[in-house]
Amino acid sequence: MARIAVIPGDGIGVEVVDAGLSVLAAVAAKRGLSIELERLDYGANRYLKDGTTLPAGEVERLRCEADAILLGALGDPRIPDMRHGREILLALRFELDLFINLRPVRCLADRLCPLKHKRARDVDFVVFRENTEGLYADVGGIFKKGTADEVAINEEINTRKGVERIIRAAFDYAKVHHRARVTMADKSNAVRFGHDLWRRVFAEVARDFPGIDAEHLYVDALSVAMLERPEALQVIVTNNLFGDIVTDLGAALQGGMGMAASANLGPAGVALFEPVHGSAPALAGKGEANPIATILSVALLLAHLGHKEAAADVEAAVERAIEANRLTRDVGGSCATREVADFIASAV
Ligand SMILES: NC(=O)c1ccc[n+]([C@@H]2O[C@H](COP(=O)([O-])OP(=O)(O)OC[C@H]3O[C@@H](n4cnc5c(N)ncnc54)[C@H](O)[C@@H]3O)[C@@H](O)[C@H]2O)c1
Repeated sequence: MARIAVIPGDGIGVEVVDAGLSVLAAVAAKRGLSIELERLDYGANRYLKDGTTLPAGEVERLRCEADAILLGALGDPRIPDMRHGREILLALRFELDLFINLRPVRCLADRLCPLKHKRARDVDFVVFRENTEGLYADVGGIFKKGTADEVAINEEINTRKGVERIIRAAFDYAKVHHRARVTMADKSNAVRFGHDLWRRVFAEVARDFPGIDAEHLYVDALSVAMLERPEALQVIVTNNLFGDIVTDLGAALQGGMGMAASANLGPAGVALFEPVHGSAPALAGKGEANPIATILSVALLLAHLGHKEAAADVEAAVERAIEANRLTRDVGGSCATREVADFIASAV
């Protein structure tokens, strides 16, 4: 029995998670999987109602009681500082130590590929984004706030342990999935101390994987490579900030934000799966959001739980929806969220 905690969250998160769950139900029925869902109402409405973001002890409870978490998105214009989103998502990422943000960047059809002279098959790589350190560690402060002398500082945290484990995870993945190259992106020519650590650790870890080509690129050069020679990229590993940015670029190479899935993995068994996109407030409630990013996140979740065939069923059904153009408007179709989900569920 797999236990999955479901946090639909805000905006289109609610609609796309419903879509993902209907595909999960279809594949569970087909493959005879026993899955128990626990729906949790954390998000903007709950926060505005009673001030709750994540109750004390909740992360610990999830660590013990859940095998995986499926999250929609967090973000609501009524909470402009995104306090609830930070507290929920960052608490889950940091307290569960989900140090790997794994983002497959695979374009599923030529017509979704935005690059001139490239085909879908040229875009097929995986990004390992460090998820618990870097500039997102929330270390810093503001001095003399609101005055002409104001100073605002964010520190970038790079620990040897943190850098080594994400680089090692990328190489391990490359080895298991028969990928011939790992590309590490930093900015060590300008960020001389923290990113020097990345370069040294990358060279050290690479020595343990003699069959895998270890390529170093500055992150600006990586951005160009993603557009000019995506076919040469196989596994990318980078820090939290650069990973955040290059994976959105990766989503564009897949056809847009509505197509990009992600997994957040750590040493504890429980992992978190979410579409890369946010809550898209302007789309919320219209039934037009693309559910494929969430459905592909469900496939990652199934694979993580060891249900590889079920994951493959879901991916194949998504490909059928693309072939049949049973898609939402953002990727050239005219279907509603529900229609796409229903098609994919029945294709499963
Ligand atoms: N992990 C998360 O929960 C997460 C991630 C990113 C942004 N956010 C939050 O979401 C809110 C909106 O942020 P944003 O507008 O910068 O990013 P967004 O991803 O919500 O939207 C960016 C653009 O992509 C489109 N889009 C996104 N998902 C789509 C889908 N499934 N189908 C069709 N179109 C889609 C939107 O309409 C918009 O034009 C903010 O509050 C932000 O902080 C949350």
